[in-house]
Amino acid sequence: MLRLDRSPAQLARLGDRLRALAADDAARFATLFDPLAPRGPVSLDEAIARELLGAALVARLDDGRWRGLHRIRRRGERLYVLELGIVEYRQDVWPETDALLDVLDGARAGRLLDVGTGCGIVAIEGAARGHRVVATDLYPSALWLARWNAALNRVEGIDFRVGHLLEPVRGERFDLVLTAPHYGRVFDQLRLEVLVDGPAHLADGGLLALATQLEWEGEDGPLAAVEALLAPLFRDGAAVTVRPIEAAEKRDWFTAVRVDEPIAGLVSHARFLVTVAPSGRSLTVERPADPPRRRCAPLARFSPGATAVISTDDDVSRLRALLASLDAGEDPGALPAALLDGCRFGERSCVADGADGAAGAILDAAGGVRPCAHGGVVASARDSLATLRAALRARAEEAFARRGCERCAARAWCSRCLFPAPLDEAAYCELMRASGTALPRLHRLLEP
Ligand SMILES: C[S@@+](CC[C@H](N)C(=O)[O-])C[C@H]1O[C@@H](n2cnc3c(N)ncnc32)[C@H](O)[C@@H]1O
Repeated sequence: MLRLDRSPAQLARLGDRLRALAADDAARFATLFDPLAPRGPVSLDEAIARELLGAALVARLDDGRWRGLHRIRRRGERLYVLELGIVEYRQDVWPETDALLDVLDGARAGRLLDVGTGCGIVAIEGAARGHRVVATDLYPSALWLARWNAALNRVEGIDFRVGHLLEPVRGERFDLVLTAPHYGRVFDQLRLEVLVDGPAHLADGGLLALATQLEWEGEDGPLAAVEALLAPLFRDGAAVTVRPIEAAEKRDWFTAVRVDEPIAGLVSHARFLVTVAPSGRSLTVERPADPPRRRCAPLARFSPGATAVISTDDDVSRLRALLASLDAGEDPGALPAALLDGCRFGERSCVADGADGAAGAILDAAGGVRPCAHGGVVASARDSLATLRAALRARAEEAFARRGCERCAARAWCSRCLFPAPLDEAAYCELMRASGTALPRLHRLLEP
């Protein structure tokens, strides 16, 4: 784990060492620390090695060479360690971060709020450009890392505060609010909370920029869903823009579903930058130019490389046949690269404590939030994450009691799907109970 007991002066010196190494020998630096480059052992000058070892950034190998223990992102002169090494927070090189940094590049220095600062990159880049910065995060461990990086870069004066989204800045206003909230399953609701509550924290002439993923159904464009949320802002006189984030890396994150005939509930997703300015009264929306397409096919006619979805009785028959062949120990042949409905027959529970449930937060065109492609509306875009979670938990508890899950033999392998259509609840439970051998095998195929 990164040494957190280093003083700011020690970290500033370490930063100078690392910057010198990166400038003098970029290839060696990359081999040790670059998050996107292949890593390997390198030889190091003893004095540099001692300093890096003191902060637990490197380890000595048996042959006397060194290997990097952390990923460090370079941005010009500044360096960002991307993880502490033990606790939950781990950052990556995300297109969303870069989209926020682009906004920062075009902004005049003022009061900046960085919500969910992570490794601190947005806050530190802002402070280095003369902004007066408040940086928040839900996790104290993320703030330890952000403070560490600030000292490493000799950047002072950032006001770090712990807390949920905008709670640490109640009643305060900023010229620029930048955020790329967590998403993935139920966390998707966080980005909606920011869009609902964020504009109230803008000073006159201010700007909120949210880099995020948006999901939508069918081929009608990404914004049917968020329009319900953005339209009231626009009606209140705000200028709202939604633009796709173009990124060379991880292009496959931007996917649109392609189908020969409509299949209810299929969801496409893409990264967007949403900006809201309190005045201007306009709504500008751009679609991704040519997003990569993911092929989806009902399981009944899946082909290799397609993503399968279980939406009809034929699909259920095909699924039963697949489970029977797995039960018999047969090679199932061409399984789809990803089973869209993997969560329903996978290892993870539909609703679980913490962040681990498979249920998500998909926006529909009317501003409703559904937990998955098959689920009904359980919350609204204007609800908080806590409200969405409570609604899911209540449903899960009801289903648990109704289905008799406590005494069920399938407890160990059942995902307790709340929305098993086209199976009804009794048929779903029967399938789960009958699949004690096959389902764990399917889990391994779906989530190797
Ligand atoms: C995707 S990272 C973004 C980090 C950084 N701002 C960037 O753009 O690269 C999301 C951050 O939000 C934080 N976070 C998650 N839930 C939060 C919440 N409820 N309130 C505040 N921050 C939260 C995470 O700890 C993480 O640091």
